[in-house]
Amino acid sequence: MTLSDYLAARRRDIDAALDRLLPPETTSPEIIHRAMRYSVFAGGKRLRPILCMEAARAVADQTPDLERVACSLELVHTYSLIHDDLPALDDDDFRRGRPSCHKQFGEAMAILAGDALLTLAFQVLSEAEAVPLDRRARVVGELAYAAGTVEGMIAGQVRDLEGEGQPPTADLLERIHRAKTGALLAASARMGAIAAGASEAQLEALTRYGRHVGLAFQIVDDLLDVEQPSAELGKTAGKDARQGKITFPAVYGLAESHRMAEEEAARAGEALEGMDERAARLRELAEFVVRRTR
Ligand code: IPE
Ligand code: IPE
Ligand code: MG
Ligand code: MG
Ligand code: MG
Repeated sequence: MTLSDYLAARRRDIDAALDRLLPPETTSPEIIHRAMRYSVFAGGKRLRPILCMEAARAVADQTPDLERVACSLELVHTYSLIHDDLPALDDDDFRRGRPSCHKQFGEAMAILAGDALLTLAFQVLSEAEAVPLDRRARVVGELAYAAGTVEGMIAGQVRDLEGEGQPPTADLLERIHRAKTGALLAASARMGAIAAGASEAQLEALTRYGRHVGLAFQIVDDLLDVEQPSAELGKTAGKDARQGKITFPAVYGLAESHRMAEEEAARAGEALEGMDERAARLRELAEFVVRRTR
């Protein structure tokens, strides 16, 4: 199966699982369930759940049903996007090809939809009965740390906002990106590996892989903001420079940023060198992250 057929099939599985896990729009209070579903089903790439499932496949022939573990990552990610777009943060009107959540439902409901998705993620994980309890507890902790304030997503968002208009230094750039995007992507690989019973050596390799993929991913996100039109991205292009964001192109320029993204993807591949052919898709995914156009 080609990578793009494979990704499409995985996305369909993940979308079906998310549909089962999110309360229906008819559940009271309807408005919040409509807002949550509006943002979740707006057509994301589902990269975090896919990484999670592939990390599990890379370490075990038979993995427990990881649907809930994978979906918890997408729920946290979608919450982070809804809040990232709020007027008080990046003030973005478009997301995933449609008006952002607060444009459609108002700010109050967008804040609550984000809160609700974050909360639901942990509910979904706590009820991941297919995953043995000791592994499930570890996976809950992984997600909490990755979303949190100590080198997690919130830490990165805080540094990103405080960095607006500040001199773009390489050190601050790395501290922003490793946390705001890298933490959840690395956690995606780690959570899949832990849930599947990875050895310490496998977990270490997949952690390195996830960190390099995470950095490559955000370098490319910064590049796409400069190089792609909004219609292709499904979000407003050119905003980083307008908002004085500390980005890879701002610090290193376009050509060097492209080179660095390639290098991070290559390092991600190297991290898997000790692993067998079951890690083949992970190698392809690292390349996909730098080749993507949206
Ligand atoms: C965008 O993430 C926001 C960042 C963390 C850089 P994605 O590019 O994965 O967004 P979707 O999920 O495909 O919409
Ligand atoms: C956001 O980074 C990362 C998150 C934690 C959501 P960006 O602000 O660069 O993401 P986009 O470009 O709006 O998707
Ligand atoms: Mg942002
Ligand atoms: Mg943003
Ligand atoms: Mg961006």
